[in-house]
Amino acid sequence: MPSIKIAPSLLSCDFANIQREVEAVEAAGADLLHVDVMDAHFVPNLTIGPPVVAAIKKVAKKPLDCHLMMTDPQRYVAEFAKAGAAIITIHVESNAPIAETLELIRKSGAKAGLVVNPETTIDAVKPWLDKIDMLLVMSVWPGFGGQKFISAVLDTIRAARKLAPNLDIEIDGGINDKTVKDAVNAGANVLVAGSYVFAGNYAERIKSLRVA
Ligand code: DX5
Ligand code: ZN
Repeated sequence: MPSIKIAPSLLSCDFANIQREVEAVEAAGADLLHVDVMDAHFVPNLTIGPPVVAAIKKVAKKPLDCHLMMTDPQRYVAEFAKAGAAIITIHVESNAPIAETLELIRKSGAKAGLVVNPETTIDAVKPWLDKIDMLLVMSVWPGFGGQKFISAVLDTIRAARKLAPNLDIEIDGGINDKTVKDAVNAGANVLVAGSYVFAGNYAERIKSLRVA
C-alpha cells in the first residue's frame, strides 16, 4: 500500500483567513490540501472556483488536491489546473466523458483521479483503475462537511485495494481518530478530514489520524 497522506479539507477552514489557515495546517503536518469545488448543481452547495484556488496556490507549499463536485467538470478542469491544482478528481457520476477528461487534466499539467459516491459500486471505475493517479471514495454524500461516516463504503475501498495494490486510494467524509482506523485497514491511504482537523488543535488532530 502506498504511504499514508493526510489531506485536511479547507472547506472547514476560516475563509476570512485562508492564508493563515493554509500555513497553520501545513505547519501542523498536512501532506496535501483538499479543496472542495461545488457547483450548486451536482451537489446542493456552492463553494470555491478557480480564482480562489489560484489565491490558495500563492500561499500553499503542499499540493492542492481539487475535488470537483460538478455536473460538467470537463468544462473547467483546464482552468483549475492553470490555477494551480496538482491533482484534479472528477466524479464518475458526472456528465464528463471520462477518457477525454482524464486526458485533458493531464495535458493541462495535473494528475487525474476519479471519485465515486457512497452507493456507486467498484464496477463503475474498474476499467479506469490502471489509468488514474488516484481513486477517491466518498464516505458521506458530497455537499457538506461534518456528516456521519458511512461504513458501507469500506467494501468499495477493500475491493479497490485488491484490484489496485499501488494506487493512491483517498477517502473523504466523516474521517476522525475513530473512523480512520477502519478506513486504513480497508486500504485507504489518502485521508481527507475537514471538520475533525479544523475543530481542534491542528497538529494534535493530524497526528492522531496518523497514529491511528
Ligand atoms: C464533502 C466534501 C468533504 C468534506 C469533508 O462534500 O467532499 O471533503 O469537506 O468534511 P468532513 O471531514 O467534515 O466530513
Ligand atoms: Zn472532498
